Amino acid sequence: MSWKSIARDDVKSFKTLGLLGEIFRLSMKMQKDGESFLPLHLGDPARFDFPPLPSFKDGIIKALDNPLSYAYGNPQGYMPLVEKIADIEGVEPRYVFTGNGVSDMMDKFFNATAIKGTNVLLPAPVFAPYFDLNTKNNIESRLYRCDPQTWQPIFNSLESQIDDSTSIILINSPNNPTGAVYQESVIKAIIQLADEIGKKRRSQNIPPLCLIFDEIYSEHYFDEKPTDIRPLIADKEFSWVVFNGASKAFNATGLRMGYAVVGGAEKEAMREVLYNECILPLCMNLPYQAGYLAALSDPAKFDYFAGNRAKLKKRRDLMLKAFAKIPGISAVKPQGAFYMIIKMDTEFRTDLDLGLSLLSEVKICTSQLSAFFDDKTHPGGTMLRLVILPPEDVLEDAMTRIASFMERHGKDGSNSKDA
Ligand SMILES: Cc1ncc(COP(=O)(O)O)c(C=O)c1O
Repeated sequence: MSWKSIARDDVKSFKTLGLLGEIFRLSMKMQKDGESFLPLHLGDPARFDFPPLPSFKDGIIKALDNPLSYAYGNPQGYMPLVEKIADIEGVEPRYVFTGNGVSDMMDKFFNATAIKGTNVLLPAPVFAPYFDLNTKNNIESRLYRCDPQTWQPIFNSLESQIDDSTSIILINSPNNPTGAVYQESVIKAIIQLADEIGKKRRSQNIPPLCLIFDEIYSEHYFDEKPTDIRPLIADKEFSWVVFNGASKAFNATGLRMGYAVVGGAEKEAMREVLYNECILPLCMNLPYQAGYLAALSDPAKFDYFAGNRAKLKKRRDLMLKAFAKIPGISAVKPQGAFYMIIKMDTEFRTDLDLGLSLLSEVKICTSQLSAFFDDKTHPGGTMLRLVILPPEDVLEDAMTRIASFMERHGKDGSNSKDA
């Protein structure tokens, strides 16, 4: 028997492979061949002019002088960090778990909570690994639609897909890939619905829903601050988990710092299953966790976050202004995160064909939006996800190249503006 023949089919179908698929592979080939391109595909601030907070590095270096940094730690993580996160999140430390980035916490959480025969509601479009974690655990993903004019969730689409087997609903605000910051009214409506369902399920002996709040972009908003869900979820009849970490807030994706906080109706049970998952890797990397603690404890972080936000907002506005002048392109104004979705009215039939041509012709690497949907939920048209992270001169260059691309490939008279 060869390894090839026993490779799991579900893993081969991962949507994350699509996201890092043909466009990404072409960009890697170009890089290998010494051909340059503008990287508008990576939500990775450290690749651009977004440096880390100095106290992060100082904290790591200091921890290397502590002999206990070389010993196994607690499965929940470096306990002073766990306590700091508990303090920030307003929970007891026993409900905090740290991991190798939010991705690792997502993996652990979905492994720990997957119940055969249940379904999980995700937004369309969705950060692709959420979809794949369900695939891996044999759980049905149901995608609720978002309005392509604003990318706000469509409440009716979400409500109509819930049944007694729905176990989890994902809320990701500020959102990847759309840049939407969910309106408070939508978040409140989802919370109220989950609470009502929980009350009904209690009398029927069905486990309550769990709401996931993925807040990894919580420090990246440009107009209004995202809704603080903490006062809204207290004492409700559902369980919840909040994900956050250092990757985006501290421009430190490579340091792999993420956490999950669990709470709500079934918090003891969720704590137990998550603890059991966290035991398997024994413990996390202690010196890096000490660095994250130093950064979280540093009062300079507030100015640092504000500076990053101001820089990004300027870049977002520059892009919106430039796109408004290009016939055939419409962009939805992102309110947060690192991303902007543009619709390009061109001769290309799929997002993938469009993205591949943009890369090979004008050397701009983007992500095809279809990688974030399932087959049923793509709203039509050809769309790409761009990052708003690059410095202004790179963005100006990119806009000029996109304008020239549209002169060759755009459909006439299609310059509708949503922004
Ligand atoms: C919505 C969302 N959640 C989680 C992650 C994973 O973050 P991490 O680097 O902490 O694994 C990302 C990364 O882009 C993301 O966009």
